[in-house]
Amino acid sequence: MAYETILVETRGKVGLVTLNRPKALNALNSVVMEEVVAALQAFEADEAIGAIVLTGSEKAFAAGADIKEMQEKSYIDMYMADFFAGWDAMTRIRKPIIAAVSGYALGGGCELAMMCDFIIAGDNAKFGQPEITLGVMPGMGGSQRLTRFVGKSKAMDMCLTGRMMDAAEAERSGLVSRVVPAADVVEEAVKAAEKIAGLSLPAVMMNKEAVNRAYETTLTEGLRFERRVFHAMFALDDQKEGMAAFSEKRPATFRNR
Ligand code: HXC
Repeated sequence: MAYETILVETRGKVGLVTLNRPKALNALNSVVMEEVVAALQAFEADEAIGAIVLTGSEKAFAAGADIKEMQEKSYIDMYMADFFAGWDAMTRIRKPIIAAVSGYALGGGCELAMMCDFIIAGDNAKFGQPEITLGVMPGMGGSQRLTRFVGKSKAMDMCLTGRMMDAAEAERSGLVSRVVPAADVVEEAVKAAEKIAGLSLPAVMMNKEAVNRAYETTLTEGLRFERRVFHAMFALDDQKEGMAAFSEKRPATFRNR
């Protein structure tokens, strides 16, 4: 499929989606949303793919939702279109998605990175929710997800002042899992994705589902969910293979079943 605003490629078992609106610093308009969701869904359906990386350019992962597209819209336009709701489809992707963030991840860009399963940042990354400076607020999950990532105090600071967080602060605060040299961010994310894609896909998906459950429920219910899924994993051929390989001191060959 030909896309207008993204580049899509595969690297072995890894699907790579690159935001590609360089003149607008990858601002997220409706076309970007439709294309990113379509590309992710295609990788989700492709049995050869085990993990996905979402990235932008070295200067900008994405500088936000497209301000020029939103500027003249009215309340009723936004409400009837359920503006931004299309991104929810991304959170229904069951394969892991790693955000490789270099440069600006602002507003919707920061929110898009947070919709991924984890974030690997280049040392030049800058995260922020500057919507307040435009007279609005985050609309793609920033007020909720950022608060869960970094806690109330920093989330309030970011949302109320619009200030940016650099890569070191983002790592310290738990927003990103690793910081690497900016030039290596895609390579490092692809390497992490390759590692994941070499493991048992059902086990990977169940791990993802369980960690995500921690954000949706109480500790008691989350632990109950974890234990049930853990027990269920003993029905996987891959559990037998993984444990046999350990005992026999050989690498495991997972068959995704
Ligand atoms: C549309 C954008 C854009 C955006 C940048 N551009 N960000 N267009 N929407 N979010 C465009 C600029 O207009 C410009 O186009 C080109 O990209 C290059 O940007 P510059 O500003 O010239 O680059 P630079 O001076 O390097 O500054 C980079 C920047 C700045 C600091 C990232 O662009 C910036 O502050 N952008 C806006 C960040 C922001 O507020 N994001 C939140 C958006 S709201 P031209 O044609 O002039 O060359 C959001 C949530 C929405 O995400 C929720 C509310 C409903």
